Amino acid sequence: MCGIVGYLGSNGAYEILIQGLKRLEYRGYDSAGVALVNADGCLNVHKSQGKVSNLEQTAAAGDTTGHTGIAHTRWATHGEPNDINAHPHVSQSGDIALVHNGTIENYAVLKKLLSDHGFTFKSETDTEVLVQLIEYIKLTSNCTLAEAVREALLQVEGAYAIAVVERNDPDTLVVARKSSPLVIGVGDGETFIASDATPIIGYTDKVIYLENDEMAIIKRGEPLSIVSVNSNQPSKIDVQKLRLSLAQLEKGGYDTFMLKEIFEQPNTLRDCLRGRITSDNRRVVLSGVELNKEKFLEAERITLVACGTSWHAALIGKRLIQDFCQIPVEVEYASEFRYGNPVLGPKDIVISISQSGETADTLAAIEIAKEKGAFVYGVCNVVGASIPRATDSGTYIHVGPEIGVASTKAFTGQVTVLTLFALAVGQLRGTVSPEQIEEIATALKAIPATIEETLKVDAEVQKLSRIFTYAHNFLYLGRGYNYPTALEGALKLKEISYIHAEGYPAAEMKHGPIALIDHEMPSVIIAPSDSLYDKIISNVQQVKSRGGAVVAIVSKGNTAMNDIADFCIEIPEVPECLTPLVASIPLQLLAYYIAVNKGKDVDQPRNLAKSVTVE
Ligand code: M6R
Repeated sequence: MCGIVGYLGSNGAYEILIQGLKRLEYRGYDSAGVALVNADGCLNVHKSQGKVSNLEQTAAAGDTTGHTGIAHTRWATHGEPNDINAHPHVSQSGDIALVHNGTIENYAVLKKLLSDHGFTFKSETDTEVLVQLIEYIKLTSNCTLAEAVREALLQVEGAYAIAVVERNDPDTLVVARKSSPLVIGVGDGETFIASDATPIIGYTDKVIYLENDEMAIIKRGEPLSIVSVNSNQPSKIDVQKLRLSLAQLEKGGYDTFMLKEIFEQPNTLRDCLRGRITSDNRRVVLSGVELNKEKFLEAERITLVACGTSWHAALIGKRLIQDFCQIPVEVEYASEFRYGNPVLGPKDIVISISQSGETADTLAAIEIAKEKGAFVYGVCNVVGASIPRATDSGTYIHVGPEIGVASTKAFTGQVTVLTLFALAVGQLRGTVSPEQIEEIATALKAIPATIEETLKVDAEVQKLSRIFTYAHNFLYLGRGYNYPTALEGALKLKEISYIHAEGYPAAEMKHGPIALIDHEMPSVIIAPSDSLYDKIISNVQQVKSRGGAVVAIVSKGNTAMNDIADFCIEIPEVPECLTPLVASIPLQLLAYYIAVNKGKDVDQPRNLAKSVTVE
């Protein structure tokens, strides 16, 4: 988490850095700060607890001049969110400033060493230790800033993306990365750096994705230099074209990014499906599968690893792959998998699912899977992120930047890609019939229009949300393909409205959670007309007979449920394996409106960050 930005050029750095921070605020908003080096040899640092808007107020009273600077938006790990712990951190002499995304694991040892050499610390952060270490090395070795940064990084254990500037040198910016992401934007006489490409759009479309263990030395008027932190040998510079537009980063007339992203889903799924189903709907074409046929033919087991919403998509993926590919599938939280000593070999395929492509636990799971010889396939949204670069092959979901912290369009994109994947592998292994492929591919191609139709429940769900705004607890129940949908609905409500909600397999409820049901505990029950519909009806009755209110998500035309449930929300009928795609829409809207009714900040809910780049 945390976002970093840097600039060196001929324009005022402050405005560029502030705008960049606003784009990165989704990565954390506990505090924000900026350090500017100006031509008079001044290093001006402004920081403030809370959002970037607070920083703007603080900085307005001070000196914001300079053509070189670094900035940070924080998601607190070491030390509470306050002004002192906010980045940039400055060395003891006040000469060096540094911003950092990641965690320095051996900071306590380094801090002790530096304290023994007379260094004192103002903050509780791990980052301050790094800037002091750089200063210590610089003073004792009489070397350049870049040399001191490299030497310090050799002593650091952990993850970092850093940017460093020095008081007397407005012409140098040093950056480096290990595990945390860093992108360099190459402009005309100016260079931008950022945790992702969003702060760079609008200035240049030429970017370099810094690789792990690389550092870049950006010097005014000189060609960019990238070297390996370990060997100090120059790296090859690979300039890529950025394919993102400014419009994709704006709210487009909606009150919030989350609402925009919910309503965008017909279009994002069109982009996700484009070119992946043949015009006769008889074949699914995924290049990641086509190019690795042998791997998929030989596969004896597939393990899906992910976190949060992506883990819910993985649970749906498990059903899809089992149904269409007849391969045993396991689903693991990436954070458990990485420490679970997984038994894997060359006939294992590990699929990592991640919207951001930067989730630390998922990245670590990929490294372990690779070490053990498994073939690793990535399902990711952010093009060029660390996860797609670490995997052997994969498929992008292509749903565009997701800025609301609560994932919506990424979830439906992930489920869509997993459906395509299961069909593609199934057709390759001959485990799915041509008729089945055609039926599902036809319905999948129509899914953008089906979701457009589903979104018409908006006003009805908004009205319903008012009845439940002040509930303290919720149960979400579903079966089969829609048990993960229930988990996802509950997570959406929890993260943006702060109402406690639990997702359960509907039939499992009678083994414990049923004790919670009373007139104050509403249940949202996902009950489309599928193979488990008759079973779920009895689960609805069990809730009703204990006084619980029921909101049922049912297929269009199902009037029978009206007699049992308190409220029914109709969704279009689709093949069973596609029901999570439509059923998740009213759940997203319900969570959204309840949170809005409660006056919550849905795009930036408390304590959360969009991409979790720490353990
Ligand atoms: O970027 P990723 O998909 O790897 O992120 C995983 C989770 O952190 C993420 O899905 C999180 O649970 C969302 N806030 C859910 O809305």
